Amino acid sequence: MMEARTWSISWNDAMSVGIAEVDEDHRRFIALLDRFNEAVSSRMALTEVQVRLQSILDDALAHFAREEELFRQWRYAQADDHARMHGQLVESIRQTKSKVSDGTDVQWINAGFKLKQALIDHILQQDMKYAALYRDSRNAIAAGAMRDG
Ligand SMILES: [Fe+2]
Ligand SMILES: [Fe+2]
Repeated sequence: MMEARTWSISWNDAMSVGIAEVDEDHRRFIALLDRFNEAVSSRMALTEVQVRLQSILDDALAHFAREEELFRQWRYAQADDHARMHGQLVESIRQTKSKVSDGTDVQWINAGFKLKQALIDHILQQDMKYAALYRDSRNAIAAGAMRDG
């Protein structure tokens, strides 16, 4: 039996990459993940679970594209590896969605739990790698734009 508590997720400062526009994306993304949790833990209709997974998929596609555009601007050396991981996450979201329609409850709930963990781990492990390299230069650019704008 899974408790709502173990599913719930909220933003915390340890998730901050220190780049305002990325943090803003991640905050919204975490909120969408929590809405998915809520649908699962309170046993909402499967159609609602699907809708909430779809919003995670849409948001992830937009966010990953934004990150990959930043990588181009930064000439980030790990860009290709990172983009490959984005592709795997997108695939996991799609697979979880199809399990909601075709799998047993246990199958898709487990898939959903793993998916949530994988998405959070991606922020904490992979996004933090570029954060460490670019947060200073990025903030300097943003500050410059504000000053010049
Ligand atoms: Fe990200
Ligand atoms: Fe990423």
